[in-house]
Formats: sequence, C-alpha cells, structure tokens
Amino acid sequence: MTGKPDVLQISKFPPWDEEVLASHFTLHRLWEADDKDGFIEQRADVVRAACTAGAPVDRALMEALPNLKIVANYGVGYDNVDVESAKQLGIAVTNTPDVLSDEVADLAIGLMIGAARDLLGGDAYVRAGDWATKGNYPFQKPIHGKRLGIMGLGRIGKAIAARAEAFNMEIAYTNRSKRDDVPYRFEPDKVKLGAWCDYFMIALTGGPGTRRLVSADVIEAIGPEGVLVNISRGSTVDEEALIQALQSGKLGRAGLDVFENEPKVDPRFFTLGNVLLSPHQASATQQTREAMGKLVLDNLLAFHAGKPLLTPVT
Ligand code: 8YV
Repeated sequence: MTGKPDVLQISKFPPWDEEVLASHFTLHRLWEADDKDGFIEQRADVVRAACTAGAPVDRALMEALPNLKIVANYGVGYDNVDVESAKQLGIAVTNTPDVLSDEVADLAIGLMIGAARDLLGGDAYVRAGDWATKGNYPFQKPIHGKRLGIMGLGRIGKAIAARAEAFNMEIAYTNRSKRDDVPYRFEPDKVKLGAWCDYFMIALTGGPGTRRLVSADVIEAIGPEGVLVNISRGSTVDEEALIQALQSGKLGRAGLDVFENEPKVDPRFFTLGNVLLSPHQASATQQTREAMGKLVLDNLLAFHAGKPLLTPVT
C-alpha cells in the first residue's frame, strides 16, 4: 500500500507527465499489460479514476470498472471516449481545452501558407539544384486579403481567425449556431462556404456528430483554385472524396495534420504533389504538451480532493 489513490493509465504519456502523475498516484499502466482484461479485472475494486492520451475508452471498459468516476483525457478532442455511456454510468470526462488553442492555430496557419506557397516543393527544388539549372520556381498562391472559410468556430477556430485577421483575410464560418462574439460572417451552408472561400479551414470537433461533414460536394465547391486545411480530425472529411479530388485537380491543394486511419496514412497521399502532410502534431510542442499534462493532473487532483473539476466535458 502506498496510500496514493489508484489511477488506471490507459495509454502512454510523455515521461515528464508520467513522473508527476506517479508522484501523486499509484499508476496502473494498462498499456503495458499483455492480458488487458485480466489486468482490469484485478484492479476493478480500487480504480476510481483513469487517464488516457487519445486511446479509446469504450462502454465495455467503463462497465468493467464499477467504481470508475472520472476519465481524464489528454487532448481537447475527446472523440476517443464514449461520452454518452460515461454520462449514463455517472462517470465524469475531462479534456484539455484552451492551453493548446494557440499552438494548434499556429500550425493551421503554417499549413495554409505551406500549401499555398508550396514550401515543400520549393525546398525540394533548391535541394535538387534545380534553381540554378532551371531558373525561378513557379509562382504560387497569395494568402493576404483572400477569403478564409472556417468550419467550426470554437476556441481553436477563433484563434485561427484572429491570426488570419492579421493577414487581412475576409473571414466567414459555419458553426452549430451563429456566434455573437465575433465580427465574422456566419454562413450556415457548408457548400456555400466552400464555394465562397479561397482557403477552407476545418476546426471541427471530432466524433459521430461531425463524421464526414466535409463531404464530396463541399470539397468540389472549394474547387481547383481552393486550398483545404484540416487540423481537427480525419473523421470530419470524406477522405476518399478528398483523395480523388486532389488526384483529379477538382480540389487545388490541401494541408493535412489529421487522417482517417492515422498513423496509417492512405499511401495515395504520398504520390500527390498538391498536399502537405503533417503527422498530427498541431499541439505537439513540449511547452503545450506540458500544459496539457498539467491539466490532466489538476483534474485528477481536483477529483480526489472532492473539488469541482477544472475542465469537465459533461
Ligand atoms: C492529441 C489532439 O490529443 O488535443 C487534441 O484533441 O488532437 C492532440 O492534442 C494528442 O495527440 C494527445 O493524444
């Protein structure tokens, strides 16, 4: 007996988080166990809290832990957690909002510029020695003063919009509902938003409610001159339609940080010159990941102290 509360650690965390978590809690590292069912069964009585870094938390897992009262998710997106079941079973779910919004928005703008100006193509051109032999690189697409359509104007969407304002971009958005706290134009029709904009930014939350919301008709509306950027979840886009549109030129370009079956990215993307690929790293700086880890810890500490949770999603 250590006297520390027990926490089921469903997936691996960065070492600095593990260290701090382990100083407060007895961690039961499910991700290290070969026999996961047996591991859970042995700890079913003592586990009241769990944490996960993106690994699935389904109903079966929650039901196997009758004393479970909180799942602390390391990530603002919690589509990996069956929140409906958690609600029914009286289990709180927390996430890590706000602390990563600026980081994610920075990369969103980076992907937009990278795709628009073909930074990777230019890099390859210089490295191959083509600049000296073939001359200047082809002209690329401007960003400043252009139209940005944002799908999902939550915390991250707003942080992206704030940056885009500095580029004098005209901004419109779709959202579950019109926001009163922004000066941007609300466009409830996603196809119209796609047709209107030069740059289409996906900042939706993941999960069943947004699955393939960016459908083939939206992608076609963005069109051959348009650029699509996704920093939300791969599930929000019809990836088959996206690949076909990039292949055929019906969609101009894309910058993608997220994919349907990541980390196993559809290899057809690798053959395309009009897409910039990024390995789901929008929040991945040490500074921001430490802040996310601290929020997971603080939620677990609040729970064990009987205090209100800092960032509950339910
Ligand atoms: C991941 C993210 O959660 O916050 C999110 O929703 O997409 C990321 O920060 C991160 O990879 C940890 O699982």
